Amino acid sequence: MKKIVAFGASNSFESINKQLAHYTAQQIPDAAVQLLDLNDYELPIYHPDQAKEKGIPQDAKNFKETLNTADGIVISFAEYNGSYTAVFKNIFDWISVIEKNIWHDKPMFLLATSPGGRGAIQVLEMAHLRISRANTNRVEQFSLPNFHTNFDPTKGILEPELKAAFETSLKAFMEVL
Ligand SMILES: Cc1cc2nc3c(=O)[nH]c(=O)nc-3n(C[C@H](O)[C@H](O)[C@H](O)COP(=O)(O)O)c2cc1C
Repeated sequence: MKKIVAFGASNSFESINKQLAHYTAQQIPDAAVQLLDLNDYELPIYHPDQAKEKGIPQDAKNFKETLNTADGIVISFAEYNGSYTAVFKNIFDWISVIEKNIWHDKPMFLLATSPGGRGAIQVLEMAHLRISRANTNRVEQFSLPNFHTNFDPTKGILEPELKAAFETSLKAFMEVL
């Protein structure tokens, strides 16, 4: 059985990206899904001098080790001011100083959604550019605009063209698991 680690790159308790990441991971047949919550990782803001003095916090090591147990990683990105949320950027910075191979060359499916019509595309493009450069494995991407009209927790993605695009990316991700 393949193990999928999935999380929303947000610390909102009601995160729509967490919902989308969870839904996506659950579409993979016969997979064991581990849904992470970034609120469970207590990390100070990355500080290079403190990192040198005190070392890497255990929660950053735990997070990276959990990524390493996965056969595939699903992340859905919330967009804040055209960029990563602070909580994601911080954990990303911490794990990036543990070792160079940040994502363990795992297959990844990157998504993003927002309540608005742009579907957090700016953060998704940024994440895809950065992560696919650091990962030799396949990195798929999908953006879902207008989350509240295009997504239903039980039915999934409602709009047919978006659903087809999602399924194409999901299939490509599953091929390399
Ligand atoms: C500080 C802040 C900045 C935001 N900036 C953007 C933005 O640049 N683009 C966007 O599409 N939505 C933006 N939003 C709205 C988010 O897309 C919305 O809050 C969304 O629900 C966040 O995803 P989440 O529910 O997974 O946390 C912003 C929200 C906040 C609180």
